[in-house]
Amino acid sequence: MPKKIIGFSKLSRVEKIDWLTKNILDNSNQVKSLLDNYLNSNNDIQTIHDSFSENSISNFYLPYSVSPNFLINDKNYTIPLVTEESSVVAAISNSAKFWFNKGGFKSKVKSFIKRGYIYISFNGEIDILKDFIEKNKADILKSTYSITKNMKKRGGGISAVNVVDKTDDLKDYYQLSFDFNTSDSMGANFINSCLEAMSKKIEELSNRYELFTVNNLSINIIMSILSNYTPDCIVEAYAECEIKDLIDIDDIDPNEFANKMKYAFDIAKIDINRAVTHNKGIMNGIDAILIATGNDFRAVEANVHAYASLNSKYESLSQCIILDNKFRLSIEIPLSVGTVGGITDLHPLVKLSLQMLGNPSSRDLMCIVACVGLAQNFAAVKSLITSGIQKGHMKMHLINLLIKKNANEDQIKRAKKFFIDKEINNYSVNKFLKLNP
Ligand code: MEV
Repeated sequence: MPKKIIGFSKLSRVEKIDWLTKNILDNSNQVKSLLDNYLNSNNDIQTIHDSFSENSISNFYLPYSVSPNFLINDKNYTIPLVTEESSVVAAISNSAKFWFNKGGFKSKVKSFIKRGYIYISFNGEIDILKDFIEKNKADILKSTYSITKNMKKRGGGISAVNVVDKTDDLKDYYQLSFDFNTSDSMGANFINSCLEAMSKKIEELSNRYELFTVNNLSINIIMSILSNYTPDCIVEAYAECEIKDLIDIDDIDPNEFANKMKYAFDIAKIDINRAVTHNKGIMNGIDAILIATGNDFRAVEANVHAYASLNSKYESLSQCIILDNKFRLSIEIPLSVGTVGGITDLHPLVKLSLQMLGNPSSRDLMCIVACVGLAQNFAAVKSLITSGIQKGHMKMHLINLLIKKNANEDQIKRAKKFFIDKEINNYSVNKFLKLNP
């Protein structure tokens, strides 16, 4: 076990690697060359990447993929995706292709409010607190003017202030809740800066508020932070077609397919064991586009899963409806994403992703992300109720085995074709290599 090190962050990259190889890893030369091999040969690019995080010693690659033919609100998109999970991009592309001739996906933003909270304890009644906030509202909001000035020009800002009584849940606990419109930015920094400025102001004003001092009342600011839960920043998406048009699906009658699909979706609505996996499939697509566009996928994951528990039990996020011979898949999720600010202005590939999507507004990106999630969901459940998912997964797995066995590019190309219809097992890899030296 290495001894505790003080001042690690102040060491140079080489010193950090030396410390690692001496104290934790063997074979220092191999480790050093591995880490060096993953550095970018262009110094400017490397400097950008080094700036993203503390203690960076190299880069960590993930595949950057694209999925074309994605029809969303009648516009044909090519979707940038970053994921390590083999078959995710193939599944999304398959789904996009399937829906393209059936009208594609439709999506719209239903609401666009994000919320930040100042969490306080206050040893008085709600009415007195409300009165204090109401009387001082103008001054409290004024404390954010230097921060909100530019956001206002882009149509954003703070739109509402509310006091929420939570004293039934926790003694003296109140929330000061603020509604924000953060325009095209995800807005975390903006919201948090506003909240911190307002907290200071509230503390200052409350200390000289006569009704408080006379009655020995005080506001204790506990913390100020945006909420990543955004139940009023909601996007919906759907894809629908006549049941008779569900024809291009492996050897299964359209009616049987539609009914089986609906049953699978209904199971996910009522059974947490299935709901979590069903939603994981949705997030396979959503996380991949969020990473490609430089968005905070951890925030979206937390948000979406909280929303899945809205009815006091964890449910699937999407539904399948059959009505009047029509088959319809839909999803409604909270999404807080940005297309300006943060890493979107810094990471060259994030900029490229946004360019590929036609530099969307954050509302447009919400729509695209929801459709990608639904497309991935459709592809996953379609596989599950027909061929099973292992066929596709094993194909990718075997290609990876071939790469490990140093197969050349031409062999891999031929293998992709070869494995499509074969009984997939390890024997196939060896057999393939024998047949394709
Ligand atoms: C695998 O990463 C995702 C799936 O399990 C999703 C699902 O079961 O719907 C295939």
